[in-house]
Amino acid sequence: MTDPLDPGSDVGLYVHWPYCARICPYCDFNVVRDRGRNEEQAALVQAILTDLRAQRALTGPRRLASIFFGGGTPSLMAPDAVARIVAAARDLFPPGDIEITLEANPTDAEAGRFAALADAGINRLSMGVQALDDAALRFLGRDHSAAEALRAVDLARRAFDRLSIDLIYARPDQTPEDWAAELTAALALGFEHVSPYQLTIEPTTAFGRAFARGTLTPPDEDRAASLYETTQDVLSAAGFEAYEVSNHARGLAARSAHNLHVWRGGDYLGVGPGAHGRLTLDGVRTATVAHRRIADYVAGVSDRTPWSERDAQTPADAAEERLLLALRTTEGAPVALLSALGLSPEGAPLADLIGDGFLMLKAERLIATERGRPVLDGVLKALLT
Ligand SMILES: C[S@@+](CC[C@H](N)C(=O)[O-])C[C@H]1O[C@@H](n2cnc3c(N)ncnc32)[C@H](O)[C@@H]1O
Ligand code: SF4
Repeated sequence: MTDPLDPGSDVGLYVHWPYCARICPYCDFNVVRDRGRNEEQAALVQAILTDLRAQRALTGPRRLASIFFGGGTPSLMAPDAVARIVAAARDLFPPGDIEITLEANPTDAEAGRFAALADAGINRLSMGVQALDDAALRFLGRDHSAAEALRAVDLARRAFDRLSIDLIYARPDQTPEDWAAELTAALALGFEHVSPYQLTIEPTTAFGRAFARGTLTPPDEDRAASLYETTQDVLSAAGFEAYEVSNHARGLAARSAHNLHVWRGGDYLGVGPGAHGRLTLDGVRTATVAHRRIADYVAGVSDRTPWSERDAQTPADAAEERLLLALRTTEGAPVALLSALGLSPEGAPLADLIGDGFLMLKAERLIATERGRPVLDGVLKALLT
């Protein structure tokens, strides 16, 4: 019998669309301001399609597991470009009934646009609402109000059965009480999936510079821990399972198939500027990174060199990466991975981490316990060094 947690040789597809209406001060993703350069965008769509065909020639026939349009802001894409990419992917990698997600910014919510994206094949929308408080949205540099986000959710609900919401918490001065109320209000909107991200101060962003100047102070460790606990408590009381550290789903069917495929160690193609991929080529797990700059990517695809990096992973590196991802999920990692890392449940340091209640073994899988998850980085450090 095949293991339902084994992704086999199926491939996921990640499509990176780098344009944003404006750049948020906390974000260090590979993004550029959308200046309406239609020719550049048309060339990028063409390059993505060419890249997809070239990668199909490398991988040979595989089944498609899922598609994820991320960014940047893929809700700014022309729906017919989305439709062409979905159709090409389906043609090159015949799929079953797959999940096709697109990340949307509430500002792009027009009834016609959402309906056209659904017609293009999108069946799950991940909405970057970030906050439901106008002062917090201003602080985050967002170009929408809470009321606009609510209108966008309403429009999205008419076009898509499956909706997810991204929220950013652990903002300066945010109290656990405020956050509990805001999260509760977000849950009342009826999302099946919630991704609450703790605000990370990235050094290369405007927030990073403000932090360095001392004009932005994120919550201290105790308040951050208390905000994390609030997140878990509110979501679990509302019937959401934290199936991964920052991903909560109401029921099994609401989990993100694309993310699960990646966390289970499945292969995925990355297309678009800066997109990462993982492909098993001639039996070797290979990490790929596409050129980050749009012009370099478009030129690279046309020269058959779309990647700035292509690394053949050693079995130990591949196993370590898989373990790091899998331990973030409630499914955990297959114990078969451990031997490639020279680890045994009977020996140090794993036996100690199990004995101290940070990790547990269950049905041939190694899983982080409720005690281990909030301190996962430290647990992994102890395990792998
Ligand atoms: C790449 S963005 C794409 C979503 C879309 N562009 C939007 O902003 O609505 C994906 C998510 O990453 C999260 N994110 C980005 N930078 C972050 C940071 N520094 N700290 C926490 N979350 C962050 C946000 O919640 C965002 O919705
Ligand atoms: S958070 Fe979204 S809209 Fe803001 S810069 Fe990042 S990708 Fe663009």
